[in-house]
Amino acid sequence: MGCFNVGLLGLGTVGTGVGQIFQDKEGRHPLLNTIALHRVGVRSLDKSRAVSIAPDQLTTDLQSIVTDPDVDIVVEVLGGLEPARTLILEAIAHGKHIVTANKAVISRYGEEIFTAAGQAGVYVMIEAAVAGGIPVIQSLKQSLGANRISSVIGILNGTTNYILTQMQQSGRSFDAILAEAQRLGYAEADPTADVDGLDAGDKIAILASLAFGERIKLEDVHREGIRTVSASDIAYADKLGFVIKLLAIAKRPSDRPSDSATAPDTLQIRVHPALVPKTHPLASVNDVYNAVLLEGEPLGQVMLFGPGAGAGPTASAVVSDIINVAALLQTGQAGSETSVTSMHPLLACSHHSYSAVEPITELNTRFYTRFLTKDHPGVIGKLGTCFGNHGVSLESLVQTGFQGDSAEIVVVTHAVREGDFRAALDEIQSLESIDSVSSLLRVL
Ligand code: HSE
Repeated sequence: MGCFNVGLLGLGTVGTGVGQIFQDKEGRHPLLNTIALHRVGVRSLDKSRAVSIAPDQLTTDLQSIVTDPDVDIVVEVLGGLEPARTLILEAIAHGKHIVTANKAVISRYGEEIFTAAGQAGVYVMIEAAVAGGIPVIQSLKQSLGANRISSVIGILNGTTNYILTQMQQSGRSFDAILAEAQRLGYAEADPTADVDGLDAGDKIAILASLAFGERIKLEDVHREGIRTVSASDIAYADKLGFVIKLLAIAKRPSDRPSDSATAPDTLQIRVHPALVPKTHPLASVNDVYNAVLLEGEPLGQVMLFGPGAGAGPTASAVVSDIINVAALLQTGQAGSETSVTSMHPLLACSHHSYSAVEPITELNTRFYTRFLTKDHPGVIGKLGTCFGNHGVSLESLVQTGFQGDSAEIVVVTHAVREGDFRAALDEIQSLESIDSVSSLLRVL
C-alpha cells in the first residue's frame, strides 16, 4: 500500500477536529492508515491547541504547503475567501487534490476552481462545505444518480435554526435571542452571513448545481434572512398550525401556471423564512441541527438529518473526502498520469453551463401577511377588493386583536404569483385605513 500525505491549511475548529481523527485512527476505515497528516499551516505558532502537532510539522508559510512536492492532498479549512481561493488554485496548479469545507469559495469561484482541477486532473471534494456532517454531497453525486430530482429543501444554517427554535419555545424577540446566542458562542460576533441568509445561499447554490446538473450564479439566488421575523409572527404561525424556519429551496417546479412565460427547465433557488406546517418533516428539525429533504422520481422523498457544523461533524465529512481521494490514488484513478478523460466520472465535476433561474416575482406561492389597520368599518372589505383586483385569493383572514389603536389583521393567501401579490400590497399600502404591513412571509 502506498502512503499519502495531507497538507492541512488551518487549525481552527474544523482543522482541530481533523487532527483529532488522525491521532485516533483505530476502528475507522483502514485506508486512513495509509494517510499521514504531513504538514499543518497555521496563523500563529504560539497558540495552545486541543490537538498535538509536532513543531516541525507546523508552519505559518501556507504557500509552502501547497507547493510541497511531498503533499498529495491539500485540505483547506481556513474559511473566508482569501487567501483560501488563491491557495486552492495554487495547490491545483501543483497537482494536489483538494478537500475543502469552504462553501463561500466554492459557491463564488466554483467555475474557476473546477475548470482548473479538470485541466490538472485533480479532484476537488466538498462534502464538508454543505450541512457539516450530513453526507448530502456524496448522496447527490453518487447514491441518487438514478433519480430526476425535483426539489431540494434544506434547513442549512444552524445559527438561524437555533434562534428561531428559541424564539418559538420562549416567545422572546430575535434581538434578545441573538444577543444570548452570541454570549454563549453559538452565534458569531458578526452574525450577518448567518442571519441574513448568505451562508444558506452559498450552500443551496452548491446543492442545486449537484441536484440539477448545471452551475448556479450566486447572484441569481434570492436571499432573505430572519431579522424581520417577530415574536408575534411566530405566535400567529403557531396558532395557524405552522412553525417558522429559514428554508433554502431549489426546485424545478412542475406547478407553474399554464400561462407562465418561464421556460420549463428554469430553476427556483431561494433562501427565506417560511411558515412550515407542523406536520411537515422539516418542522421538527430544531436548534442547531440541519436537514435536507430531497425529492426525486422514482425515489419519492428522502430526508437527511444531523449536525450541520462543529469540529467533529465537519471533520467527519473532511476526513471521509480525504479517504475517497486516497482510494482513487490507491486504485490509480488519480495521480500523475490522470487526465480529465480518465477521472472518476462520479467524483469529478461534470458541469459546464449555468442554469436559468426564475426571478422571485415569478414564484407561485402562498403568503402570510400581517397588517395594522384603523379600526373602521369597511377596512376588511377594502383589503379584499385590493387583493381581488390583482387575482389574489384569500385562504383565511382573521382580525386577532389590537396593537395600541391599530387593529391587527392576519391573512393567508392561496398560491399566487409573487409579482401579483406585491402589486396588491402596494395598492393596500396606499389605503388611508392601513397603518402598516407588519410582516410578509411565504408559506411552504
Ligand atoms: N455558520 C454555519 C451555521 C455553520 O450556523 O450553520 C458553518 O456553515
